[in-house]
Amino acid sequence: MSNTKIICFANNKGGSGKSTTCSNVAYGLTELGHKVLMVDGDMQMNLSLAYFDEDKVLEFASGGKNLYEAVKNQKDLTDYIIRTPYENLDLIPSSTLMSSIEYELFTKWQREFILKKCLQNIKDSGEYDYILIDAPPTLGGWVMNILVASDGLVIPVEASPWGLFGLANMFEFLGAVQQISPELKLMGIAVTKVDTRKNYFKQTMETLKELDDVHVFENFIRVDSSIEWAQDNSVPVVAYKKSSRSAKEYMELTKEIEGLWQ
Ligand SMILES: Nc1ncnc2c1ncn2[C@@H]1O[C@H](COP(=O)(O)OP(=O)(O)OP(=O)(O)O)[C@@H](O)[C@H]1O
Ligand SMILES: [Mg+2]
Repeated sequence: MSNTKIICFANNKGGSGKSTTCSNVAYGLTELGHKVLMVDGDMQMNLSLAYFDEDKVLEFASGGKNLYEAVKNQKDLTDYIIRTPYENLDLIPSSTLMSSIEYELFTKWQREFILKKCLQNIKDSGEYDYILIDAPPTLGGWVMNILVASDGLVIPVEASPWGLFGLANMFEFLGAVQQISPELKLMGIAVTKVDTRKNYFKQTMETLKELDDVHVFENFIRVDSSIEWAQDNSVPVVAYKKSSRSAKEYMELTKEIEGLWQ
């Protein structure tokens, strides 16, 4: 049996920090000595943009080598892997056509398991220590595919009044997925875009800690302009500015995530 762990970053709330967290934890895991494959599951292609410039990302989208084409045609994803500029860090890019993936899945046999099957050979090969999947801000057949393909789920939550709204829907959805994929584990909630000067942050943390059986990662991520500059340059924040606060926070969060499976 392979030791590859598949972790997805999902939350139906848009802008909660899924892509930022997925891209930076992926890089963080390579810094800890792991080999990582990232899978961009969103038509916005933000995970792909975290590592490649716009021209390159649009090239992925228009060429045949992207997640949409593979899932639509139920292909082994091994042939869709792209090397990033970083050692031990690879990517399966997305496509803007991902917007019609729900339609494509609709008529397929065992449609909740298609992504899992497309990833099976990569997982079985044991080539990667981790596969990290970035989900779009929706709950439906495609996100169900992402969750079913995963061993663990991290829910990034923005520390804002609306950041918590909708979390109940996410838990309900997770419960439904666990009925067909009981081994899927909720690893925890990662709190992002925190402004510690605001009292609202404390209230968010207290509300989250009151949730039964839900782990909240100790290392939260503060609002930091280094994140935006890093994204503007298509590099992870740890590579952009190792001394920045968010680089350190993402490394600590990565260690916490790594620690859950050791
Ligand atoms: N710690 C941070 N400090 C400053 N800006 C941040 C931080 N984290 C994320 N952002 C910014 O917030 C926005 C939303 O982040 P991100 O794209 O990671 O969220 P998302 O959940 O993936 O969004 P979507 O639901 O659209 O996929 C982005 O513009 C990103 O640059
Ligand atoms: Mg995103």
